[in-house]
Amino acid sequence: MTLQPPSLKSVPQHVALIMDGNGRWAEAKGKSRIEGHQEGAQSVRAILRAAAATGVEVITVYAFSTENWKRPPKEIEGLMKLLIESLNTYEQELHDSQIRLRIMGQLERLPTPVRKRIEKTMRETEHYAKHTLVIALSYGARAEITHATQQIAQAISNGTLKPNEITEDHITNNLYLPDLPNPELMIRTSGEVRLSNFMLWQLSYAEIIVTDTFWPEFREPQFYEALQQFERRKRRFGALDSNKGFS
Ligand code: IPE
Ligand code: IPE
Ligand code: MG
Repeated sequence: MTLQPPSLKSVPQHVALIMDGNGRWAEAKGKSRIEGHQEGAQSVRAILRAAAATGVEVITVYAFSTENWKRPPKEIEGLMKLLIESLNTYEQELHDSQIRLRIMGQLERLPTPVRKRIEKTMRETEHYAKHTLVIALSYGARAEITHATQQIAQAISNGTLKPNEITEDHITNNLYLPDLPNPELMIRTSGEVRLSNFMLWQLSYAEIIVTDTFWPEFREPQFYEALQQFERRKRRFGALDSNKGFS
C-alpha cells in the first residue's frame, strides 16, 4: 500500500463512511476515548486529501448518531468540543481545497454555540461547488425518513398532493440533503457489520465495505484500497450482467 493514489478507471462520486472504533483504538493504546476521537479527526483530514487526489466529489462521515445521545454526558461534551476545535484549527484547509461543509441531521438538537460555529463555516464555504464534506451529526435515517413523511403529509393536508401521486422522488426530495447523489460506496471501519441507522434510503444500492481497521488508523492507503475493491465489484442493480443473455 502506498500514499500515492492508485490509477483507477472510475471512482464513486460519493463515498459515505461510518467512522467506528475510536474507543477500541484508544483502549488498545491505553488512551482515553476522547483521544481516540481526536486521532479519528485526523483520519477525516486524510480521507479528504485522498478524495481530492482521486476525484471523489462528496465525502459523508457519520460523526454522531441520534442513538449516540445515550452516551455519557462527558463523552458527548468532549465530542462537541472536538468538533469546534477541529473547525477552528482546520477550517483553512477547507478553503485551501475549496471544500463545502454541509451538515445532515438534527442541527437544532446541538448546543447553540456548536450550532452557531458550524453554521458559520457552512455559510463561508457554501460557494464551493466541486468538493463537499457532509458531516452526519445527530443523524438517524429513521428520524430523517419520519421527517420526510411529515413534510409529504403536510402537502397532502394542504391539498397540493394526493396520496396516489406520491413517488420515490417525493421521499428523496424531502430528505435532509435532497440534492446529494446517493453514495455508491459505504465503508464501515472496526469490523462491525451493521448500518446503525445510517442513510437507509440512500444506501439501498450502495456497495458496502467493512474493514477491521479502527477509524483512527483508516488513512489514505486504506481508502485507496477500498476504491480498488469497489472497482472490482460487479454492480447489477437487479438486472443480469450486460454480456449474459437469458439461457
Ligand atoms: C465512533 O467510535 C465515533 C462515534 C460513534 C462518535 P466509537 O466511539 O463508537 O468507538 P467504539 O465503537 O467504542 O470503539
Ligand atoms: C455508529 O457507531 C455511529 C457513528 C459512527 C457516529 P456506533 O458505535 O454508535 O454504533 P453501534 O452502537 O456499534 O451500532
Ligand atoms: Mg462504535
